[in-house]
Amino acid sequence: MQGPVAIILAAGQGKRMRSERAKVLHEVCGQPMIRYVVEAARGAGARSVIVVVGFGADQVRAALADEPDVFFAVQERQLGTGDAVLACRPLLEDYSGPALVLVGDEPLLRAEPLGNLLDRQRADRLDCLMGTAVLPDPTGFGRILRDSAGRFLRIVEQRDCTPEEAAIEEINPSCYVFELPSLWDALDQLDTTNAQGEYYLTDAPELLIQMGRSVAALPVLDAEDVLGVNTRQHLAEAHVVMQRRIQSRLMDDGVSIVDPRTTLIDGRAVIGPDTTIFPFTVISGSVQVGRDCRIGPFAHLRDGTILHDGSEVGAFVEVNRSTFEAGARARHLAYLGDTIVGPGANIGAGVITANFDGKTKARTEIQEGAFIGSGAVLVAPVTIGPEATVGAGAVVTKGKDVAAGQTVVGVPARPLRESVVPESDGFDHRETRR
Ligand code: UD1
Ligand code: MG
Repeated sequence: MQGPVAIILAAGQGKRMRSERAKVLHEVCGQPMIRYVVEAARGAGARSVIVVVGFGADQVRAALADEPDVFFAVQERQLGTGDAVLACRPLLEDYSGPALVLVGDEPLLRAEPLGNLLDRQRADRLDCLMGTAVLPDPTGFGRILRDSAGRFLRIVEQRDCTPEEAAIEEINPSCYVFELPSLWDALDQLDTTNAQGEYYLTDAPELLIQMGRSVAALPVLDAEDVLGVNTRQHLAEAHVVMQRRIQSRLMDDGVSIVDPRTTLIDGRAVIGPDTTIFPFTVISGSVQVGRDCRIGPFAHLRDGTILHDGSEVGAFVEVNRSTFEAGARARHLAYLGDTIVGPGANIGAGVITANFDGKTKARTEIQEGAFIGSGAVLVAPVTIGPEATVGAGAVVTKGKDVAAGQTVVGVPARPLRESVVPESDGFDHRETRR
């Protein structure tokens, strides 16, 4: 196992979520919580990550299946956080060096302070270094006890606190760096004489001190870092903080977000400078947006969508697994799924690509400069050639490709022959072209 290693505890059910799903799989800004913690551990310098799974183990594994260098240890019964760390011992039998130990229900942990902890632990040759936070309301967390000289003594769980201890504002967020194999000596001595009858990892630092090892605690984390998710209320709070972080990063990079409160952007989205996002827009999944694009209001860009420079997706337009080439536009009320919209092509109001026949998804290709009139339906698979026009309300059926420069109208759509269409039809399809 390549060091430093990280151990992330994620075997618990999270009863207070009142859910069938393992707690760490609940999503914050579109991704399961556990993924953020894995990312933070990596960002801090962990080369290998071990996730301790138990409740919903298969789903947790599946949620991390695409992550390289993530290993799993199974804790069969949830006997406490100390026991959970012990479940990693077989994987780490030959490893000596630092182990960053974190919990999977703190999605807002940032990599930077965790990296600082790893550096300090190494520089000061500590057997245990804990990151702590000072909170005006420490309710629910274990408290950090120090002696009169400020040296770390031990952690007391909320449930085991005296009233004086409960008043302590320095808390244990469960961010530890332990030196291995030293930690195993302490875990071997854990017992269950506490309010919950569990093997508490929080007893390990005190046991290490009793064994003459060096232990310290540093208040390097802030209130946001340690926002642990135990309830749906916490989940919503975590979402707000995460969304603010995602949006400020984008704004720092030159993206305008007109109304951050009504905009929702997945952290995996990549958006170019001078793009403007209007209110009530949702960007979910891994979406890529170029420069100078206009998105919204009320737009929904879904996973796998790519908007090239200068393209526009306007009001009530949903775009799913589709690509807009440079300057392509869909300004109002449309659904585009599994579609390529060529450079400069224009999608009128109410256009639908019918990409799903109930069994399979099929692709639509709208080529350069094509014009799709209002209310048209394109039944995939179908290709609309360059500079072609689809008349308002036309239904282009499956496989009835429209040739370059051709105009089709009607249901089902047929080539327009000037001779049979009366002039009074008022149907100059290219007139509204911009
Ligand atoms: C724990 C700490 C507490 C700290 C808090 C910070 C202990 C005893 N207490 O309390 O000092 O303030 O975290 O968030 O460690 N888990 C397992 N197996 C188990 C039990 C738990 O994998 O047998 C996992 C859970 O899935 C969870 C994490 O460990 O991700 C923490 O467990 P939880 O029950 O939430 O501990 P807290 O009561 O929050
Ligand atoms: Mg917790």
